[in-house]
Amino acid sequence: MLIGTSAVVTGASSGIGAAVAQALAAEGAGVALLARRRDRLTSLADTINARAGGRARPYEADVADADAVRAAIDAAAADGDGIDIMINNAGGGTWGPAVTADLAGWHDMVEVNLTGVLNATHAALPHLTHAAAHHDRGVADLVTISSIAGRKVPSPHSNVYSATKHAVGAFTEALRQELAEHHVRAGLVEPGLVVTELTTSGRDYVPDATNPTGYGLLQPDDIAAAVVFMVTRPRHVALNEMLVRPTEQTR
Ligand SMILES: NC(=O)c1ccc[n+]([C@@H]2O[C@H](COP(=O)([O-])OP(=O)(O)OC[C@H]3O[C@@H](n4cnc5c(N)ncnc54)[C@H](OP(=O)(O)O)[C@@H]3O)[C@@H](O)[C@H]2O)c1
Repeated sequence: MLIGTSAVVTGASSGIGAAVAQALAAEGAGVALLARRRDRLTSLADTINARAGGRARPYEADVADADAVRAAIDAAAADGDGIDIMINNAGGGTWGPAVTADLAGWHDMVEVNLTGVLNATHAALPHLTHAAAHHDRGVADLVTISSIAGRKVPSPHSNVYSATKHAVGAFTEALRQELAEHHVRAGLVEPGLVVTELTTSGRDYVPDATNPTGYGLLQPDDIAAAVVFMVTRPRHVALNEMLVRPTEQTR
């Protein structure tokens, strides 16, 4: 359904971003893979390009570096005949008590989860409005991966993570209102608990995806399917927000 389109996915080197890139490519989109770990991006690009019709390129950039991310996005647009779909996915963070928190860790979360989204969005907007106006599809998509922690504060320890995700939610809603007349659909996907490096690396707490009931947690492909559904709606349909929880997640 996306043959002939070009997409950019930030944070494509692992987890949800890698799954979204593969799912968009499976629908025929060319995909620009953006993150810091070039080896991971190159390997994913090779995997996608080995499939029939695969068109993937790696772009190494830190989303917190405005100049680097703009250069990568402009290069992706030049290489891919514009940008029809922009996926703001890069993000991360830690949860913990505020009283013992490392302030630098809070700043890092704001730099990636909020400033990174602003940097990438600012760079992508001219390409998206151009694609909506001039490409046959007649619409372009800006999708930001927020979190259930962007809709509510799931626990006190989600403090700054939740603040950054609420902020991108507010930013996206303002963009939705502004960009509607330009036929750029601004949407949010808000995952519950997904098994990725974010939830399993370097932490005491590791989610159990094989719980006794057998239902398990979300996998990156589950979120990728939501993103693909969002960006493949007919051009008069804007699916603005999707909250996706594991069936058994209560909060
Ligand atoms: N997993 C969950 O349960 C869950 C739930 C709700 C929302 N989310 C959101 O989903 C998104 C993806 O997370 P994930 O769970 O897939 O975690 P992940 O596997 O750790 O992936 C995070 C991605 O973001 C990239 N990234 C981090 N900092 C970056 C930077 N400064 N510049 C460029 N890229 C950067 C990483 O690439 P490099 O390290 O190579 O740069 C990686 O590709 C995040 O926005 C996260 O907040 C996750």
